[in-house]
Amino acid sequence: MQKRTLGTQGLEAAAIGYGAMGITSAYGAADEAGGIAAIRRAHDLGVTMFDTAELYGMGTGSNEEIVGRAIAPFRDEVVVATKFGWVMPLNPEKLYDSRPENIRKVAENSLKYLGVDVLDVFYQHRVDPDVPIEDVAGTVAELVAEGKVKYFGLSEAAPDTIRRAHAVHPVSVLQSEFSIFERATAAEVLPTVRELGIGFVAYSPLGRGFLTGDVRPASEYAADDMRSTDPRWQPGDYEKNLAAIDALRDLASSKDATVTQLALAWLLAQGDDIVPIPGTRSVARVEENSAAADLALAQADLARIDEIVPDGAFGARYVDFVMPVG
Ligand SMILES: NC(=O)c1ccc[n+]([C@@H]2O[C@H](COP(=O)([O-])OP(=O)(O)OC[C@H]3O[C@@H](n4cnc5c(N)ncnc54)[C@H](OP(=O)(O)O)[C@@H]3O)[C@@H](O)[C@H]2O)c1
Repeated sequence: MQKRTLGTQGLEAAAIGYGAMGITSAYGAADEAGGIAAIRRAHDLGVTMFDTAELYGMGTGSNEEIVGRAIAPFRDEVVVATKFGWVMPLNPEKLYDSRPENIRKVAENSLKYLGVDVLDVFYQHRVDPDVPIEDVAGTVAELVAEGKVKYFGLSEAAPDTIRRAHAVHPVSVLQSEFSIFERATAAEVLPTVRELGIGFVAYSPLGRGFLTGDVRPASEYAADDMRSTDPRWQPGDYEKNLAAIDALRDLASSKDATVTQLALAWLLAQGDDIVPIPGTRSVARVEENSAAADLALAQADLARIDEIVPDGAFGARYVDFVMPVG
């Protein structure tokens, strides 16, 4: 698979990456065996960037342990990325914790859980309003100097925060939500990251599964599946979003592709500094998703997608209390 360069510090990844969150959280029951098989198949197909976080193990390290076990046979061929600083639901009173001592603690735990000598990308998961970003960047810079971290990343940070962090230690990559269904976040930050030479990792590139067409109304998801409360799945908005998927499917079919592949190819067409990280626990779906790297879209296809979904999905992207603050 073709490689993309993220930032100017040497970070490279295949055009399509892999997100491990759903193996243990967010989308119903955990599936360790499915996740490991999916990660290994992704590697066979040329995927090189594997994304996890402290949060996805809900404080147990389980997601990082699964990712670590899955990549162990080929660890030196891949980029492993993890994140610190989003402590909910460990502490419902405080969502975020980027105090230097917590960043250091998470780094040590992540190295241990992943079973690696160095964290290739260490992201701040969410901006912590109680800790100046300069202190966060300074702490990560120390971890880089100590050889524990290679590249610094931010997630859902606003332009001014990115600039301030980058002035202390170079940010290689910003990870934020970006998909046919979520355009506003990227529109706000892409000019800044491009000016500063920072790469962009697109999370939830399939709109949490909506952009695959394999969806059901909110009431049909289990309580531990975030789509049961996700605004885009709620009655009213759900039907409008589904109508958009039907129109996208017609376009995809005309190119012998699936809606999922169209959604990933659309992201790749937004710039060669963008790497989407779709998540799945299925080998067959990893195969479908990886094949999107070969789907080229013409200007007319991109224009048609804009016609079908001019402003992103109907419904907010998060329930209020976890909406990023930047
Ligand atoms: N930085 C952040 O704050 C943040 C936030 C959210 C996510 N992320 C990262 O981004 C990654 C991806 O985002 P995401 O997992 O939220 O959403 P996503 O990749 O947009 O969608 C994942 C959902 O789509 C389904 N799916 C995947 N491929 C499919 C296919 N070919 N056909 C049908 N269904 C398919 C998956 O189901 P199955 O698993 O059942 O196949 C899962 O339910 C995460 O794993 C995580 O690493 C980061």
